[in-house]
Amino acid sequence: MRNLLITGGAGFIGSNFVHYMLERYEHYRIVVFDKLTYAGRMENLAQALANPRFAFVHGDICDLDAVREAVRAHAIDTIVNFAAETHVDRSIMTPDAVVRTNVNGTWALLEVAREVGVERFHQISTDEVYGFIPEPQRSREGDPLEPRSPYSASKAGAEHLVYAYFITYGLPVTITRGANNIGPFHYPEKAVPLFTTNAIDDLPLPIYGDGRQVRDYQYVLDHCEGIDIVLHRGALGECYNVGTEVETPNIEMARKILDLLGKPHSLIQHVADRAGHDRRYALDCSKLRALGWHSRHSFDEALERTVRWYVEHQEWWRPIKSGEYLEYYRRQYAERAQADPPAR
Ligand code: NAD
Ligand code: TYD
Repeated sequence: MRNLLITGGAGFIGSNFVHYMLERYEHYRIVVFDKLTYAGRMENLAQALANPRFAFVHGDICDLDAVREAVRAHAIDTIVNFAAETHVDRSIMTPDAVVRTNVNGTWALLEVAREVGVERFHQISTDEVYGFIPEPQRSREGDPLEPRSPYSASKAGAEHLVYAYFITYGLPVTITRGANNIGPFHYPEKAVPLFTTNAIDDLPLPIYGDGRQVRDYQYVLDHCEGIDIVLHRGALGECYNVGTEVETPNIEMARKILDLLGKPHSLIQHVADRAGHDRRYALDCSKLRALGWHSRHSFDEALERTVRWYVEHQEWWRPIKSGEYLEYYRRQYAERAQADPPAR
């Protein structure tokens, strides 16, 4: 492994992964291939741009020729696919984009990977592919995939293609299924950065339904380390869960953000629930731990670091919260807030 193509590297987790890999491996060359959608930002890569081992290619993973050209020009031997449309709420409003990028785009990458004969194709997937997991169950890697949103269905579809290329063509693949990430460069449409930036400005925190849905919120660098370990020690054709195994109800997460910022809990506003909202995801991560990985940050530490980053980096998120973002926010939340408040 020497020349890595990181698709979606200008997004939240991808950019954190780029910084992590450049620092950790002195001989790796990193090429980011990114379409720069609303979620992809060159600012996220500012630290990497001056590094001679880093290059950026502006392109769409659905464009087979553009992917092929980048892979050949940079003698890529490893592809790590972060590129995706990632927001569940947007996938409910406009499902075509998730199918196009997450399914067709993954297919185009796999085709080029097969043609060129890469050493490794790693797919970044999500705990959401398992669907809603009732207490006290935890998802293990061999469990059936029962996705319930357009986003999670598209991610499951991508995974099936990746596995099919392993079986059919012998492409050397691995997959990780990460729980919710939090940390720097997280686009403020997702719950934690949305609540944090709203709270800083004394705006309401829109909690869907009763707020009792639980997520496993992990620090983004713990996820990056898990991906690194699977890239180097994972078995081909295998999939690995990555999370803390600690679940937090959304309402508790929102209260902790307000406490960290010294803001009143009265900023919490219950709004209409998300259609098909998965009330719980819960992973069993023993398979990854057996490779020597462990989660380094508790939820409280991860949240504290994240909230501090947003307080200290307002120059990053304030420009985002304008233009297209405000239009999206209005479409997403105006009717929700007017709906009958749910029972708490
Ligand atoms: P993000 O939305 O912050 O970034 C996505 C990136 O992909 C952006 O830079 C965007 O420009 C790029 N992109 C989108 N469509 C593209 C296309 N057609 N061609 C090239 N680039 C394109 O996403 P994220 O939160 O960093 O998630 C990264 C990956 O991790 C995704 O595959 C997501 O499904 C997965 N994941 C995310 C989480 C999470 O909590 N955020 C958890 C588990 C798994
Ligand atoms: P999100 O960050 O969108 O991640 P995902 O749905 O992919 O897990 O949402 C995290 C949780 O927070 C999820 O249960 C939905 C909930 N949520 C709200 O209550 N209000 C919001 O405004 C958003 C965006 C999410």
